[in-house]
Amino acid sequence: MSVALEVRGLTRRFGKLVAVDDASFEIRRGEILGFIGPNGAGKTTTMRVCATLDLPDEGDVLIDGVSVVLDPRGVRRRLGFMPDSYGAYVHTTVADYLDFFARTYGLRGKDRARMLAYVKDFTGLTPLEHKLMTSLSKGMKQRLCLAKTLLHDPALLILDEPAAGLDPHARVELRELVKALAGLGKAVMISSHILTELSQICTSVAVIEAGRIRATGTVDDVIRRARTQHQRVFVRSLAPIDALLKLMLETPGVETARPERGGVVLEVAGAEDDLARLVRRLVEAGMDPIEFSPKATDLEDVFLSLTAGTVQ
Ligand SMILES: Nc1ncnc2c1ncn2[C@@H]1O[C@H](COP(=O)(O)OP(=O)(O)OP(=O)(O)O)[C@@H](O)[C@H]1O
Ligand SMILES: [Mg+2]
Repeated sequence: MSVALEVRGLTRRFGKLVAVDDASFEIRRGEILGFIGPNGAGKTTTMRVCATLDLPDEGDVLIDGVSVVLDPRGVRRRLGFMPDSYGAYVHTTVADYLDFFARTYGLRGKDRARMLAYVKDFTGLTPLEHKLMTSLSKGMKQRLCLAKTLLHDPALLILDEPAAGLDPHARVELRELVKALAGLGKAVMISSHILTELSQICTSVAVIEAGRIRATGTVDDVIRRARTQHQRVFVRSLAPIDALLKLMLETPGVETARPERGGVVLEVAGAEDDLARLVRRLVEAGMDPIEFSPKATDLEDVFLSLTAGTVQ
């Protein structure tokens, strides 16, 4: 699969603040990359540079091999950017809005009519085409923005928080649309705080905090790596909870222990052999363990273990 987007050593400063600090990652065609990080991490700043709306102080971004610094016009032809918010035009219908952008993209005659029909159908906007933009709900507005983003059939889509403010139905629909777009061979970069959502569609992730990329790779790899560093386990034993808590808190590698549902939930630093040592310790101390269940690591655990919510 060819690389659709390559971020190379990207740095963007605002005065003394380093909003994006030497970031590097890539997205291949057909891949959906979840770009995750706490508020102020540098996601929008990175995406704006990728979309040629801002310039890097150092580094570069290549889209289909074309540099955002050297050939921004060439890049714009290849990507569609959906910003986190956009304004509604007054006295403008859905159809007028899309037609206007189709014209600015240089689409003419039958090609324009065909493309407009396709994007309206794809995003479910056909029945709403005569509605005024100012009368659209949040979810409809998001769809309209996505439709606009698709008009010039870009190979790469950059979506900044597209699911924000959508109800569960609209989120499922958006997820299906994004999956369908990846199925057409497009590369998609999508930022969101709704991690369960992302984990259902993303093939890869990049985790960013305070401008630095903390982890990048396929979802499975990132989760596997997090599992070698940190685990959560539920332990129940025949011994009194207080004794179990005391023993666990005295065990190296156990970061926290708290009572829950008749047992103890532990946060443990380390990999699976550290868990095996913990089981041995319980048995040797005569604690008679009757349940020892490590919790499956998900994207949310990765996010919480790799980021501290630092705001800069
Ligand atoms: N134009 C600007 N001028 C000065 N500082 C800026 C500018 N744009 C962004 N920043 C700062 O850069 C940092 C990164 O902001 P950015 O908007 O990229 O974060 P984000 O990850 O998108 O956050 P959120 O999840 O809240 O959308 C923040 O500290 C922000 O205040
Ligand atoms: Mg943002």
